Amino acid sequence: MKKPLLLGHRGFSGLYPENTPLAFMKVADTGADGIETDVHICKSGELVLCHDERVDRTSNGHGFIKDFTYDELLELDFGSWKDPAFAGQRIWTLGELLDFCKEAGLMLNLELKNGIEFYPELERRSAEEIRKRHMEDTVFVSSFNHVSMQRFKELAPEIETGLLYESPLQNMAHYLDGCSADNVHPCWHVFEYQPELMELFHSRGMKVNVWTVNDESAARFLLGLGVDGLIGNYPDLLCRAAGR
Ligand code: G3P
Ligand code: CA
Repeated sequence: MKKPLLLGHRGFSGLYPENTPLAFMKVADTGADGIETDVHICKSGELVLCHDERVDRTSNGHGFIKDFTYDELLELDFGSWKDPAFAGQRIWTLGELLDFCKEAGLMLNLELKNGIEFYPELERRSAEEIRKRHMEDTVFVSSFNHVSMQRFKELAPEIETGLLYESPLQNMAHYLDGCSADNVHPCWHVFEYQPELMELFHSRGMKVNVWTVNDESAARFLLGLGVDGLIGNYPDLLCRAAGR
């Protein structure tokens, strides 16, 4: 069996507050290959990491990231909502995470959160941060916004892209013809419904990285189908399922 790519979804978000320095750092202890995260642009222009467009669910603040300056975001506690023991976790910029990944030798799947808020500069600015650090081979970019993903590819053809999708799409082969994605990032449940898709993707030379796999038996099922990458909240569980 080929060696699958194993990534901690929003860091090691099963046990630690998602998309925080702590959750990112904890992935490095598990034996997984890297991290998946989500990027937005705040009011003062910094690229910051958070899943939601608003800070409400994962911090002690209220409102949209686009309405906060970076200094205001730094005042927020992104840890306590998960457990008071994690109080004081702050937001990280994309640059901080890239530096950490480079130092730790981790891969990064960067999701452009350009689906509810549309950040016009997100593609160009993200590519700039990756290139500045010469991390084109260890970072790949995905988005549910396929136009954004395509724009990124046009701006940075040397960086791999992944087409994110959740519900089965009709005429998949035809859809793939019309977009420039290198790889696909489907919700893993798609393969319970359409296991034959694995062959279609592979026959087109696309790697298949699935999310969000939090169950060992699901991970084994997917590995048996020949999946290339697993993204999950418990990277330690993914390592166990893959026999690491
Ligand atoms: O990249 C896979 C996964 O992160 C997509 O869904 O909502 O967790 O960002 P979401
Ligand atoms: Ca994501």
